[in-house]
Order: sequence, then structure tokens, then C-alpha cells
Amino acid sequence: MAEIKTFGVIGAGQMGNGIAQVAAAVGLDVIMNDIKPEFVENGLTVIAKNLSRSVDKGKLAADEKDAILGRIKGSTDLKEMAAADMVVEAATEKEALKFQIFKDLDAACADPVILATNTSSIPIGRIAAQTSRPEKVIGMHFMNPVPVMRLVEVIRGIATSDETFDITWALSKKFGKTPAQANDFPGFIANRILLPMINEAVYCLYHSVGTREDIDTVMKLGMNHPMGPLALADLIGLDTCLAIMETLYNGFKDSKYRPCPLLYKYVEAGWLGRKTGRGFYEY
Ligand SMILES: NC(=O)c1ccc[n+]([C@@H]2O[C@H](COP(=O)([O-])OP(=O)(O)OC[C@H]3O[C@@H](n4cnc5c(N)ncnc54)[C@H](O)[C@@H]3O)[C@@H](O)[C@H]2O)c1
Repeated sequence: MAEIKTFGVIGAGQMGNGIAQVAAAVGLDVIMNDIKPEFVENGLTVIAKNLSRSVDKGKLAADEKDAILGRIKGSTDLKEMAAADMVVEAATEKEALKFQIFKDLDAACADPVILATNTSSIPIGRIAAQTSRPEKVIGMHFMNPVPVMRLVEVIRGIATSDETFDITWALSKKFGKTPAQANDFPGFIANRILLPMINEAVYCLYHSVGTREDIDTVMKLGMNHPMGPLALADLIGLDTCLAIMETLYNGFKDSKYRPCPLLYKYVEAGWLGRKTGRGFYEY
């Protein structure tokens, strides 16, 4: 396995642009792909703003900011991932969409290339089965916001090889993160625990147990959580939250994971949280 010098990122949304930023910050050349030029541009703008903030705070030299940005190339053609030594997919949390991306990546990338997914909950084995290289498919689950959060959950599919695991583990450390290993069950560790709590908070709102502010205040001050669950749902994206709950519900066939009807209502209205300016709160 060749050294990873060029890193591919599929999706330039909130996770994809964060991953691209941390990869470029440790010296990798990055290709960041999305379906439309404006989505790629938007991702690059977010990275530039983040880095400028670090410069303003004196945490980053101005020429280092330029160097990091200079290492990130935008792309709207997935075939350009042929130049990558490893790819992480961070596109929208929809199974059919990820299946197609992995089929296309499998065709575009050379045999030794590891294809990782930042999926929040879709089984790695199911994604791996779309490719001819299931031993090189792995979950590399970053947290939001990527440049700030220290965890990477590394998820082994049933066919993931030790070599693939070791390379992904080492790369997570190179990115300055602490990896934790999870096995391939819906939601893995992070979202199997977090999302049912968020869903329950939405049920509390739905049943008028409390206002959004009261629900979040209880969890912040009573449980010492840095953010309330409804504000956190807005940060994650309500479409992503709903997709994860559906994966848990369908995966375990257990009613305790049933997504709250209010979550469907918000997503149907396009109130997806911070990224659309409105979720449980207005931004
Ligand atoms: N939001 C979070 O807190 C969080 C945390 C960990 C993991 N994740 C996971 O990361 C992934 C991305 O989530 P996000 O929050 O960045 O969503 P997002 O909506 O901000 O971004 C998704 C991006 O994927 C792009 N996309 C859609 N189809 C594509 C395709 N075929 N090729 C390339 N790009 C495509 C979209 O245009 C969009 O820019 C999801 O799998 C999600 O579950 C999210």
C-alpha cells in the first residue's frame, strides 16, 4: 500500500469540507468533490472562513492558511478520484446514493485504494458489498465540526482487512484525532447512543412536555451537556438525524427507535437546522 499523499473527499457539505480542511492542514493534497460547482465553491468558502478565523486568533500563520487552501482542489467529476491514494465519502445520508458513489469509486480508483465512508449509520458491510474490494471499505466517522472535534469512530465491516483498519487508524491519528473502534451494527457506537436521546427530546417537544428552551436547558444544566439535544439536532441536520433514526429503526426492527413524527414534519418542511437557517431554532 502506497503512502497516502492525495486524499479524496466526496461531498463538500458541512462534513466533507471539514474533512478536506483537516487533511490539507496535515499536508495532504486533497480533491474535494460535489455534484455542482456552487456546492464545491461553498465548501471552499467555508474552509477559507474557518482558516481566516484561526489566523485572526493567532493560531495559524497567514501563509500557512494559503498553503492549506492551495492543497485543496475542487472537483465535480468523480472520475478525478483516480488520482487519490484514499477516498472518504461524506455525501448525503441516503443509502441508494452512497451505493452508487461506491460503485463509481470502485470503477474510478486503482485496486489498492481504500474507500472509506463517513456514514452516520448505514452498515459498512452493505456499502462494501457494492464494490469489488470489500476488504478495503471501512467506516471513518468524523464528528461535527470536524476541525474541532477530537474523535474519529473507525468502523470495521465484516470483510474489512487488518491492513485497511491499521491505515485508517493511523491516518485518524495523523489528523490529530483520537480513534475509537466500533463494529458494524446500525448507528455504530456514537449514534446508537446519541440519536435515541435526540429523538426522545423531539418526542418531549411533540408531547409538549417542555418548550425547546426548557428541554435544552434541562440537558445542559442538569446533565452538563455542552449543548441541548434540540440545538445539537439542528447542528447535525434534521435530515441526517431522521436518516439515522430510520436506519436504527429498520436495522433493529424495534419500536424504541421509531423516529418522532415531528422530525418527519420538520424535514418535509425543509427545516433542516442550521444549514437551512431553520430547525428547532431559527438562525
Ligand atoms: N452532520 C453531522 O453532524 C454528521 C456527523 C458525522 C457524520 N455525518 C455524515 O456525513 C455525511 C454528510 O453529512 P453532512 O452533514 O455533511 O451533509 P450536508 O447536507 O451538509 O452535505 C452533503 C453533501 O453531499 C453532496 N452530495 C450529494 N450527492 C452527492 C454525490 N453523488 N456526489 C458528491 N456529493 C454529493 C451534497 O450536494 C452536499 O453538499 C452523511 O453521511 C452524514 O450522515 C454527519
